[in-house]
Amino acid sequence: MITSAAIRQHFLDFFKSKGHVIVPSAPIVLKNDPTLKFTNAGMNQFKDFFLGNKQSPNKRVADTQKCLRVSGKHNDLEEVGVDTYHHTMFEMLGNWSFGDYFKKEAIEWSWELLTTVFQIPKDRLYVTIFEGDAKENLPKDEEAATEWKKWIAEDRILLGKKKDNFWEMGDTGPCGPCTEIHVDCRSDEERAQSDGASHVNNDHPQVIEIWNNVFIQFNRLKNGTLEPLPAKHVDTGMGFERLVRVIQGKQSNYDTDVFSETIAAIGNIVNKKYDGSDSRQAIAFRVLADHIRAIGFAIADGQLPSNTEAGYVIRRILRRAVRYYYSYLDYKQPLLHQILPVVAHQFKDVFPELQAQTDFVKKVIKEEEEAFLRTLEKGLKKVDELIATAANGTIGGSAAFELYDTFGFPIDLTELIARENNLTVDRAAFDKELLEQKNRSRAATSLETEDWVVLVKDGGKENNSPSFVGYEMLELQTKVQKYRKIKAKGKESFQLVFNTTPFYAESGGQVGDTGILSFDGEMVPVTDTKKENDLIVHFTDTLPVNITAPVDAKVDVERRKHTAIHHSATHLLHAALRRVLGTHVAQKGSLVNDEYLRFDFSHFAKMTDEEISKVEMMVNEKIRENIPVVIKELPKEEALQLGAMALFGEKYSDVVRVVIMDPNYSIELCGGTHVGSTGELGLLRIKQETAVAAGVRRIEAVCGLAAEKYIDEQINDLKQVKQSLKNPKELSKAVDQLLAENSELKKKLEHLENRMLVGVRNELLQKDQIINGVTYIGEIVEVGNADALKKLAFDLKNNLNDYVAVLCANIGGKPFVAVGISDTVVAAKQLDAGKIIKEHIAPLIKGGGGGQKNLATAGGQDASQLSAAIEKVKGLL
Ligand code: ALA
Repeated sequence: MITSAAIRQHFLDFFKSKGHVIVPSAPIVLKNDPTLKFTNAGMNQFKDFFLGNKQSPNKRVADTQKCLRVSGKHNDLEEVGVDTYHHTMFEMLGNWSFGDYFKKEAIEWSWELLTTVFQIPKDRLYVTIFEGDAKENLPKDEEAATEWKKWIAEDRILLGKKKDNFWEMGDTGPCGPCTEIHVDCRSDEERAQSDGASHVNNDHPQVIEIWNNVFIQFNRLKNGTLEPLPAKHVDTGMGFERLVRVIQGKQSNYDTDVFSETIAAIGNIVNKKYDGSDSRQAIAFRVLADHIRAIGFAIADGQLPSNTEAGYVIRRILRRAVRYYYSYLDYKQPLLHQILPVVAHQFKDVFPELQAQTDFVKKVIKEEEEAFLRTLEKGLKKVDELIATAANGTIGGSAAFELYDTFGFPIDLTELIARENNLTVDRAAFDKELLEQKNRSRAATSLETEDWVVLVKDGGKENNSPSFVGYEMLELQTKVQKYRKIKAKGKESFQLVFNTTPFYAESGGQVGDTGILSFDGEMVPVTDTKKENDLIVHFTDTLPVNITAPVDAKVDVERRKHTAIHHSATHLLHAALRRVLGTHVAQKGSLVNDEYLRFDFSHFAKMTDEEISKVEMMVNEKIRENIPVVIKELPKEEALQLGAMALFGEKYSDVVRVVIMDPNYSIELCGGTHVGSTGELGLLRIKQETAVAAGVRRIEAVCGLAAEKYIDEQINDLKQVKQSLKNPKELSKAVDQLLAENSELKKKLEHLENRMLVGVRNELLQKDQIINGVTYIGEIVEVGNADALKKLAFDLKNNLNDYVAVLCANIGGKPFVAVGISDTVVAAKQLDAGKIIKEHIAPLIKGGGGGQKNLATAGGQDASQLSAAIEKVKGLL
């Protein structure tokens, strides 16, 4: 049997032979695209080439791309594992033409690859082409039909509607008609019974789409219209796991060698066998084998599970997997992290980033599993309660929603448990709550963008000439190329794109520049600069009157300078951490601005004080050495050979920028702005070292002016303490002495208080009255704190049998009340101290409180009501 690895290689070799350059997969986690969180198609990394924002160095490329389709327009999550051919993460094999070949070659080559190289029988293949759409004013794709007729019988060329045969990346962006290739994998008997054509695009598990060839011709604008693109492109995507299944002659993607090792590993752990059926147990095997890939690669590319946005997507996938093994494989321990090494090993040559970080990713997954297993158990208890109290045989929509939202129970799990207990779930009410939540979160994060208003086509510059010139210049004359209005959280602002700009756009942890634009003397402040794919977008609160005027664009130099200081410091810090803690330290995120730096890195233990001071000392030594910062542009391979540190989950181009601070100390690939030599940093101070997530530590540090300020603050604090202590010779001794005295005094005070309480109690015992056969004490007493009052009420039981006591105190102007009732009176008179406090006392003294039947307390605001409180309880008795 041909292996999946060989199939992948054949694909790449085939397109290489057709003049394509093979490029690496982009990270699965996306950083600079506000419309997408994860790569969901091979073409994502090429979006700007299609739109004409940038020109590709190669006109033909091919690759295998890690994709995730669990959020946004393309979302398959609920299908995954239930069927045998959808996945969360999948590999998309693709070939691209950027303004080069078009339909003829694309169709010819896809046919050649499938039927000649892979030898898929021709009589099992069907293709679909776009039938046109009157509403969009789009014609039928006659050209694709003509090309296909050269290769395949006409009755196998099927017409498809917009839904299947006009591919769009999202609500906006590049798009165009497409032609899909489907394979009929049914048995000969089944094929004799019904024509394969009737099953194409009809959810038949054995008649499946494997390849989509998109002919990118338009840009879908925000207002819904289609704008023709300057050039025509080819964008194809073939589902690797499906292709392998077809070639290996399997009925299910999970029966191929893409998944078989993982499934075997799961079987060994849970001591059960995967039988490929539709049973919940078999679904659980598939869910785990699938989800571990998505979770593992997303974490390896830098996305930790969390409570928001992309992190929440990963958390949800992980929880879905956990509840499947917990409920259907009867396995109650963390399991996913155990199978991660199998996946890492399998992909070590294709996507080595997982193998390189196995320990770290395992640790993150394990901790996340442990946390959710605890929640899951609580959730199952909650389910038991719901079952016990279900009204009319129904679990309410909001209860089901709470299970979903707080405990991570997918609705199908709740429904299943309900059925097992002869109950139903109010699904309509659940769906309503879910929709409301979605609307809420959309409103909270919604960013409305209008279409760009283009002033200068192509920016009036040579394509590919760099638009960022801010490494050398901090001020220049430029022109607005395009602008648009945006609305975020109800606030309107504007985004401007220039021909060239000195403004650094937020990336690599470094904040975007701010500064000022002068349009013919009209000043417009730039509040931030960000990247959108490869566009550099400047944010302003207003638009100038004359937007077409030449602009004097000026970066805030001071802010940039202090930011550069902190950026260079992160490189020195990174290198020092690897020397002091070990080379397992990998950057997991950073924030660099003019005030401080934050550096997250993989490391499994809290740093000791000694380690922190070693790191600090090493960095400061490098600062004193005043090492020149050398920045070079080099081919990526050459840079890596130099030993440059590349970050996992970053996309690097063929030529990279390398920042060197002593070739034997720190070499990093980095696009940020830096100082000229390390002496400019002045001094580094680490302010704190904390945990961010499982296996990830965080250092916050300051440099330069910020470090001076920080030290000043510390010294001032110290001075004040010294002064308060009357300038002792040895400060720490003086503080120790003070603390010792303090604890001695506390002890004495406690002793005296206890003695005083005995006195107060004896007085109280003189003041008892008998009401309805019960001893009653109601007094305002003098005590120092609320605890003493409570103790007094409680201790009365040592001296009295049947009693009710209401003790009040005015402590610093605030009223406190304690009610104590002996158990005998609680039983005989149906009195409840907790209720009395809640219902009668707390409202009276304008406060709150509570407690048990025999002892309860309250605190409040209105001390004038203490006598009234005493009378109230007396009345009750
Ligand atoms: N971009 C196309 C798809 O994802 C190939 O299906």
